[in-house]
Amino acid sequence: MAYRVLVTDDVDPEGLALLAAETELLVDEVPTLPKDELLRRIGDYDAIVGRSATKISAELLRAAKKLRVVGRAGVGVDNIALDVATELGVAIINAPAGNTVAVAELFFGTVIGLLRQLPAAALSMQNGVWDRSKLMGRELKGKTLGIVGLGRIGSEVAMRAHAFGMTVVAFDPYIADERFTALRVRRAASLDALIAESNILTMHVPLNDETRGMIGKRELGRLPARSIVVNMARGGIVDEAALLAALEADQLRGAVLDVFTAEPLVADSPLRTAPNLLLTPHLGANTVEAQRNVSRDVCLAVRDALLHNDLSKS
Ligand code: MLT
Repeated sequence: MAYRVLVTDDVDPEGLALLAAETELLVDEVPTLPKDELLRRIGDYDAIVGRSATKISAELLRAAKKLRVVGRAGVGVDNIALDVATELGVAIINAPAGNTVAVAELFFGTVIGLLRQLPAAALSMQNGVWDRSKLMGRELKGKTLGIVGLGRIGSEVAMRAHAFGMTVVAFDPYIADERFTALRVRRAASLDALIAESNILTMHVPLNDETRGMIGKRELGRLPARSIVVNMARGGIVDEAALLAALEADQLRGAVLDVFTAEPLVADSPLRTAPNLLLTPHLGANTVEAQRNVSRDVCLAVRDALLHNDLSKS
């Protein structure tokens, strides 16, 4: 008996080749299916493999009469109606480890870019200008980095921050003291306590009811003067309107956003022209290495779930 797998986003070919190598798996790659077309076709498939662009809604899951597995080539599962998947007995498999380094490296790339005004510097050079006095930067050394969420990505960020001579503090009630000690990270007693001492505050938590709007007007107002806020986790964890207001009031040194409440970010979003805001289009996991890792991890797990009924990764 053959199982049909629908690939609905651009997933790295190395993992897909592992699926295609199995004679009992028939793989269809259709990364740009409109929603209605996906709804019409989904009934034929035993598994979906995708990234965050495919919304695995309750409606889609209910139309997917044969579906057994959803494979997510990445970590976040906030694009999936998890309660309905559980109700219908559809297994959700993600790839939580393969892109952690990519996100941590982008964190330092963008924060240094912001502190050294690299986007403005590059633009000035393209425009034939040579003005170093307007491009004075700041260093990471000696600054306090506040990490919300000391999971896989938060930990990778913490390890690298030590190399820059930063003081690293984190808030994460779900992580044991031993992990803090091993990472040489001081535990903040509360989110408020962390915020109060963070020169750079960065979010590395999933989006859920606990974290939605976690950093709003009140929290931004409690940061030390001239702080930086970074969100490369999920849009909505930092309140976009509150962040915009804080930047426009010159209350922050700057901010980095790689993720947005609505993606893609609309062309006329006021965020696009906000002062000292470095924007990137959800590039956290966008490296060749990370995409290869998550594709391989998720495709192997989907294969095992379908062919060997192994749902240990779900
Ligand atoms: C993830 O959740 O793995 C990243 O945000 C990347 C993605 O959504 O594809």
